[in-house]
Amino acid sequence: MSTDPKTIAWYNQNASDYASHVRNPKHSAYHAYYEKPAMYSLVSQIKGKRVLSLGTGSGEDIGYLKSLGAKRSVGVDIAEELIKIAQSGHPECEFFTMDMEKLDFPDGSFDFAYSSLALHYIENWSRVFGETFRVLKPGSHFLFSCIHPLRSAMVETRGDEDGYEKQIGISKDRRSGKFTINGDYLHMKRIDAEIGGTMKVTTWHRPFGEIVNSAIDAGFQIDRLVEPEPLPAMQDVDPQSYERLKRIPEFLVVRVKKP
Ligand SMILES: C[S@@+](CC[C@H](N)C(=O)[O-])C[C@H]1O[C@@H](n2cnc3c(N)ncnc32)[C@H](O)[C@@H]1O
Repeated sequence: MSTDPKTIAWYNQNASDYASHVRNPKHSAYHAYYEKPAMYSLVSQIKGKRVLSLGTGSGEDIGYLKSLGAKRSVGVDIAEELIKIAQSGHPECEFFTMDMEKLDFPDGSFDFAYSSLALHYIENWSRVFGETFRVLKPGSHFLFSCIHPLRSAMVETRGDEDGYEKQIGISKDRRSGKFTINGDYLHMKRIDAEIGGTMKVTTWHRPFGEIVNSAIDAGFQIDRLVEPEPLPAMQDVDPQSYERLKRIPEFLVVRVKKP
């Protein structure tokens, strides 16, 4: 398991708050108006098929996939408190507390795999992609989203009680001729984040090449890459995030195929 134990503890301790947050589109505008529409637009034809959601959280995504007519809908998550909430909210689906780096399912048991905003918590992607490849039937898709590498490469260049500045880039002092380099895009980096002042979790930055090559090295073919834009309706709910997400990506959506 290469998810940081502090991250798992955070999700377990805050499971019910997290579930209410994602279930309310006004609170989770990023999900409702940005990431989910992009993900859902790339879901394969799953009517009558077996579907697996990795890092399923409180189970909303697998519940949605079930409503599209999936025959078997399974969600796994490493945080057992979230799995309990998912099971009571979505009795029509099956849930297991399970590490997605070690899937307890036979080879070829699913026709579609899905993972929404969970992979960036995992340091070692070769196991996740290897395991997902193994449990999928040939010809199936794996659709996933993660933090966009442009965003995770940014570093805080100024931060105080009045606000902060996050950048990736270069600045030059004309007098001294000296360059300042902000951020490091090319190397994998651990990020101990405190999202929204409360969410104490560890995520990993990895450059675009590593994201794509992790899938290719496991045997997948790249099928579609999307850098989503927010839906216009987000403007009314969260206008500042809307303006930012129209220009600077937060998430990346990728669909790969097991040949
Ligand atoms: C941001 S939440 C996303 C939840 C859900 N997919 C959604 O979009 O609402 C990330 C989830 O990944 C789970 N997770 C992190 N590492 C995991 C691992 N190694 N195996 C299974 N789940 C993991 C966390 O427990 C958490 O529920």
